[in-house]
Amino acid sequence: MSGSRDRKREHYYRMAKRMGYRSRAAFKLIQLDKRYGLLEEGDVVVDLGAAPGGWLQVAAERVGESGFVLGVDLVPIAPLGKNVRTLEADILDEQTADLVRENLPRRADVVLSDASPKISGVWTVDHARSVELARGALRIASRVLRCGGRLLVKVFQGEEFPGLVAEIRKRFEFVKVSKPRASRKASAEVYIMAKGFRGRVRAAPLRRRG
Ligand SMILES: C[S@@+](CC[C@H](N)C(=O)[O-])C[C@H]1O[C@@H](n2cnc3c(N)ncnc32)[C@H](O)[C@@H]1O
Repeated sequence: MSGSRDRKREHYYRMAKRMGYRSRAAFKLIQLDKRYGLLEEGDVVVDLGAAPGGWLQVAAERVGESGFVLGVDLVPIAPLGKNVRTLEADILDEQTADLVRENLPRRADVVLSDASPKISGVWTVDHARSVELARGALRIASRVLRCGGRLLVKVFQGEEFPGLVAEIRKRFEFVKVSKPRASRKASAEVYIMAKGFRGRVRAAPLRRRG
């Protein structure tokens, strides 16, 4: 690991400790929110792949007491404030979107996903798993977001990346790919930020033949 990479990790690690955040990742959300205006007071937010809870803390601060944040992860998340609820669930499971909807006070304004696969070290495998998680997040977002809602999703770059961005473009009016400063330059991760959810795509009506 290079010296500058170590220094960057150490810097965000110390800052997270000092500010009481559960993860260094918290700063990625802070930076992306500053750049794109993702989170607003009163928002209903869903955070997928949320453990240990750094993003949940940042989202809860931004939405305030009138907002609500729901975190989902495979592993349990230690309790946070009054307006934060958490669920143990797999975002690749078909039923998770229903579970998320049942736990929201209304349709979500924002869906976030920082979900990461366990790193195998084999680039193509890790990329494919990360795209699978991003597609899982997109599927859930498509079921729970309100029209005009926002999405932020992490993915490791690779050959399936352009296809994923194209899928997101079909469902949102504005899409941007970004890498926050707090993300290591050498890592393959980027964040896809999308605004203006177009609403659920309905199945095309059946056409009569003949
Ligand atoms: C980088 S961590 C998230 C850090 C978080 N944003 C924070 O600030 O604390 C990635 C998380 O994705 C979760 N994850 C991976 N696969 C998942 C899946 N299929 N369903 C739900 N969570 C998953 C992992 O358990 C892990 O906690």
